[in-house]
Amino acid sequence: MAVGILLVGGFGTRLMPLTKNTPKPMLTVAGLPVTEHQLAMARNAGITTVVLATSYLSELFIPYFGDGSKWGMKLIYAVEKEPLGTGGAIANAARFLDTNEPIVVFNGDVLSSHNLSEQIRQHQENKADVTLHLTSVDDARAYGCVPTDSDGRVIAFLEKMENPVTNTINAGCYIFSPEIVTSIPRETVISVEREVFPQLISNHGRLFGFIDDSYWLDIGTPKALLKGSTDLVKGLADSSALTLADVASHTNEKLIMSAATVDPTAVIDLGSCIGAGAVVGAGAHISGSIVEKGVHVGAGAVVSDSFVTTGAVIAENSTIRAAFVTKDEILSIPE
Ligand code: GDD
Ligand code: MG
Repeated sequence: MAVGILLVGGFGTRLMPLTKNTPKPMLTVAGLPVTEHQLAMARNAGITTVVLATSYLSELFIPYFGDGSKWGMKLIYAVEKEPLGTGGAIANAARFLDTNEPIVVFNGDVLSSHNLSEQIRQHQENKADVTLHLTSVDDARAYGCVPTDSDGRVIAFLEKMENPVTNTINAGCYIFSPEIVTSIPRETVISVEREVFPQLISNHGRLFGFIDDSYWLDIGTPKALLKGSTDLVKGLADSSALTLADVASHTNEKLIMSAATVDPTAVIDLGSCIGAGAVVGAGAHISGSIVEKGVHVGAGAVVSDSFVTTGAVIAENSTIRAAFVTKDEILSIPE
């Protein structure tokens, strides 16, 4: 059975100030950390052992996820003192895996409903070194461009180019054969996208693309983070993690987590989620937003297209549009 490595050590720079005290994968979308949605996806494909490759704010994962038994999984934590880059993180995490099985690596900021079991099957059938999930996007400049030939073999890996050669991009979920992971140098800063993949291709390695255009989103920008959450609530993205979670009620319009107190005259819509223990006052209107656990939204307040973090208090009758709200500041989300 395949085992997993989740890359969760990045700084989440584009999501400041949300990521000042919370690593990007621990931000909640649809009431749960991004990582929890990803673990459910891995679990559905039969992966039960996962190493979390952490670095930035590594200490915040363990109190929530523990040993993983709550989810029927075995979770192991690999901590990089200084970020080792995506390749170094994989090599470092693999030390904790004693296996001859395929290793499935996930970027830690992706929501994907692609068919992971089929990706693993094709990897084995092709006797591949690496099988990369590929998807198509309108604008490929922010991603790794991955052209393939008619047999699905990867011809090139071109990370973030100004004039993309194709709109088929790296979706951030790879199956590695264990020998390839072993060949990545340890304790060295190295990038899979800029170094390991291009080198494997020039050495005629067997890299295959697995093209699957199911729901896919990198939640690394403010707008994408909100979209990911509302898409999960609306059921546009696979939300199987919610089946194990403490949910009070869930419709396509709204998700209310347990022990939240929502006044019956408040309106929650457009895929908003209200975290555990949050309080929403009379006549408040929350649209297309994420309200994290414990937040207080005063009576008559209007909150739209915003992310309100734990500890924040929204004053009565105030209006918040397209903003990040923390306990210290309100910051407009850039266009
Ligand atoms: N442990 C660890 N250590 N994790 C890291 C490190 C590190 O040094 N650097 C990055 N990561 C993790 C991040 O936390 C994130 O989950 C993942 O690696 C990818 O990093 P991003 O910073 O989100 O990269 P990106 O979105 O610009 O590009 C990547 O993802 C695209 C798809 O979403 C690349 O893989 C692109 O090729 C790809 O198209
Ligand atoms: Mg990303």
